Amino acid sequence: MLALRGAKVIVADRNAEGLKTLPEHFDRCLLDVCDPLAAKKEIAALREKHGAIDLLVNCAGAIVSAPFVNIFSRDSMMLPYERFRKDLAINLDSVFIVTSAVVEQMVLTRTKGCVISISSISGHGNAGQTSYAAAKAAVNAMTVTWAKELGKLGIRCNAVAPGFIGTPSTHSALSESQIKHIVANTPIGRLGTPEEVGAAVIALAENDFINGAILDVNGGLTL
Ligand SMILES: NC(=O)c1ccc[n+]([C@@H]2O[C@H](COP(=O)([O-])OP(=O)(O)OC[C@H]3O[C@@H](n4cnc5c(N)ncnc54)[C@H](O)[C@@H]3O)[C@@H](O)[C@H]2O)c1
Repeated sequence: MLALRGAKVIVADRNAEGLKTLPEHFDRCLLDVCDPLAAKKEIAALREKHGAIDLLVNCAGAIVSAPFVNIFSRDSMMLPYERFRKDLAINLDSVFIVTSAVVEQMVLTRTKGCVISISSISGHGNAGQTSYAAAKAAVNAMTVTWAKELGKLGIRCNAVAPGFIGTPSTHSALSESQIKHIVANTPIGRLGTPEEVGAAVIALAENDFINGAILDVNGGLTL
């Protein structure tokens, strides 16, 4: 959707096969967004090759569901700490790492830019998602903090907090009965679409006076 509006879009992902499936007009960057040194190096190289970066969308993440207490688990009744740290790495550390690398380039090139992070409705807290909810709540807090800190540099920071979107990731993270329950409790009465999340990203990117917003895109599920 950004490309259709004329943006030069570079997709960074660690999935080499997935990158190959993108339409030709996208530039690709093979990157593990949890690796701070690689991110710094790659982002600097992208700026060198393509010029100033004026928009970052932090989208990489992994929807993870695991109960804090699982009385049926033979190995460990409690959510393992290693699992918690791993989930935070992809959903929280990644946002810090890539935003740090991109904002550094924005400041060096005196670019008035915009950072948009994909948060989640789970940032309000969601049973069965200790680490994912913690990560997304922290993404919201970093977004507001950066909005306050970077506004004077001309860099805006916002987040989109989708509810439940009809993607393969949702269908693999939740059971069909959980999805039915969610739909029944959503005033709009359905799951959202990726295009509706994209439209929210574009709204935040295009409006120069929105800063520090966490935009809910959830069909009214939180009302
Ligand atoms: N799908 C939903 O219903 C939903 C709802 C709320 C929020 N979100 C958020 O939207 C974002 C995208 O989710 P999605 O549903 O499209 O998931 P997805 O699994 O389809 O996409 C996630 C992408 O992140 C990439 N990725 C994962 N770890 C990476 C790493 N270390 N380095 C580089 N790339 C990595 C994956 O390869 C994949 O391409 C996530 O942040 C997710 O938390 C999704």
